[in-house]
Order: sequence, then structure tokens, then C-alpha cells
Amino acid sequence: MKLTALFLLLLPFAETVLTRKIPQNLQSFLDGYKSGKCPTELKSGFRFSDNQAKSARYCATSDRKFLWLAGPKSLADMDIDCDGANRSAGGCANDPTGQSVTAFQDRVAKFGIEDLDSNKHSYIVFGNQGYSPSFDPTQSGVPELGLAVVVCGGQFFYAVWGDTNGGTLVGEASISLATACFGSGMTGNSGHSDTDVLYLVFTGNRAAANSTVDWKAQTFQDFEDSLEPFGRPLLEEVCAGYADGGGCSGGDGKKSAGARVIWGDAMIGYPLVFILGAAGGWIFFRIF
Ligand SMILES: *[C@@H]1O[C@H](CO)[C@@H](O)[C@H](O)[C@H]1NC(C)=O
Ligand SMILES: *[C@@H]1O[C@H](CO)[C@@H](O)[C@H](O)[C@H]1NC(C)=O
Repeated sequence: MKLTALFLLLLPFAETVLTRKIPQNLQSFLDGYKSGKCPTELKSGFRFSDNQAKSARYCATSDRKFLWLAGPKSLADMDIDCDGANRSAGGCANDPTGQSVTAFQDRVAKFGIEDLDSNKHSYIVFGNQGYSPSFDPTQSGVPELGLAVVVCGGQFFYAVWGDTNGGTLVGEASISLATACFGSGMTGNSGHSDTDVLYLVFTGNRAAANSTVDWKAQTFQDFEDSLEPFGRPLLEEVCAGYADGGGCSGGDGKKSAGARVIWGDAMIGYPLVFILGAAGGWIFFRIF
């Protein structure tokens, strides 16, 4: 009886610590690109906050399998998107800018919900419409409600591409995702301003989230969990083909072009380190 009570007491805490550990090779991807490397710049001229130079851009691997947001020397920040159903609830209560609908409301209606709910659905805002410059991810092969992997606060989460930006701002996610990343300090008008977040977006129709996802989930955790079977094979594409030969789950190590880009970039770096090291050693022995 007492034990049950203790268990029930601890349950909420147990839930909050059930996070997804970043697989080693996703970490390698993050490390390779966190300083702003952008193999294919799809569109530039965006910004993370109002008072900032328009230096953010949409990037892709050279085979254009994966897209993400980068600054000149960084990844992206995370503002809070409170659009959609129930937009004035919870952490969004103080957001004055919430729109009544998200970009793909018509599409989610087919899955039996009125609209995405920022308080429950793990989604990111990607693409910029209506201003110049604009960027339409579908032109680069990203499907509407496409699957994304978000690395934030030392964890990673699955999400869908759920909304677009109206202006030139970029780097935004649903309040539920932001809270999972950075805790309960996130509100409609207070996001995460460090530009260290990776929003990895997948191209191709296989990345389009469909009816197998639990759109009617009542919690962020349940919705995000339902994306896992969908996202894992895609994530393994990112992870396959590194130097260690393993995928995210110690997988088959089959080469994916997306991963080869990373390895290719590293190939430039290692010889340079070797040459500099050898030169340093030669000078050392000549002098002493
Ligand atoms: C809106 O959110 C509140 C608080 O999370 C919840 O109690 C309510 O049921 C939600 N309404 C709808 C229509 O989802
Ligand atoms: C949903 O998408 C997955 C992954 O592309 C696919 O395997 C599955 O058949 C799809 N299911 C439906 C009902 O469309």
C-alpha cells in the first residue's frame, strides 16, 4: 500500500526523465554541423530574432536527403509556436501572436483532429511564406507533415513539420516540444535563444507522417512515442555509414549518401591535423 503510494508519487518524475539519448552517430552529425557548416545552401536571408542580421539559412547535405537550419557559425534557436487548436492554454496563455490555424490544418483533419495542438503535438515550424526571402520546403522534396528529428538540450525527439513562418524569422517549435527540450520555463513569449538546436528534416514521401501516427494522443509523450516506429528507420539513414560502421542501434553500417557527406568532410580535416602534427614534431626534434 505504502509502496504503491510512493510509486504513484514518483511516477510523474519517472516520466519526465524518460528521454531519448542521442545515438552516437546522430551526435556525430550534430558535431559535424554545429558550427554552421552548410554543404548546400538552399536559401539564405533569414534570422533567429527580430534585432538580428539576416544571416540564417536553410541547408542540406549535398545529396539533399536532409535539411536543417543554420546560422553563419551555429545551428538554430527555438522560439515557441502557439498556433492551432487550444492556442491560449497552458504555457501559451501569454502568447499574443497565436494564429487560429496551423499550415496543414486541412491535412491533419483527415486524421480526425481539428488541428495540431501546440500543447500536445511535437511539431516544428519550417519554411517561410509571404515575405521575401521565402522558402518552400516542399520544393526541396519535404512532404507536408514530414518527419523531423530535433536535437535539443542534450536529448533528441521526433516531431513533424507542422507549421510555416509568416515572416523571415526561423527556429520555432510547439510549446510541448520546447518544454520537453528545455523545461517548464518555456512560454509563448519566452523560448530558447541559444542557437544550438538541430532541426533535421527528411525529404521524400516515405517521410510523410500518416494515419499510423497517434494524432489523437492526449499527451506530448504519447504523440512523440507514436512517431518513433516511423522515425527510427529514417534516423538510421542519417546514422549509417560512419567510420565506426554502425548505425544508431549498432546497425548494419550500410552506407547512406547523407552520411558519406559527413565522412567526406572529415576526410579533409584528418589529413590536415596529421600534416600539422607531423610538422610540429619535426620542428620540435630539430630544436631540442
Ligand atoms: C485545451 O487545453 C486544456 C488544458 O491543457 C484542456 O483542459 C482542454 O481539454 C483542451 N481543449 C481541447 C478542445 O483540446
Ligand atoms: C505509413 O507510412 C509508413 C512509412 O512510410 C508505411 O510503411 C505505412 O504503410 C503507411 N501506412 C499507411 C496506412 O499509409
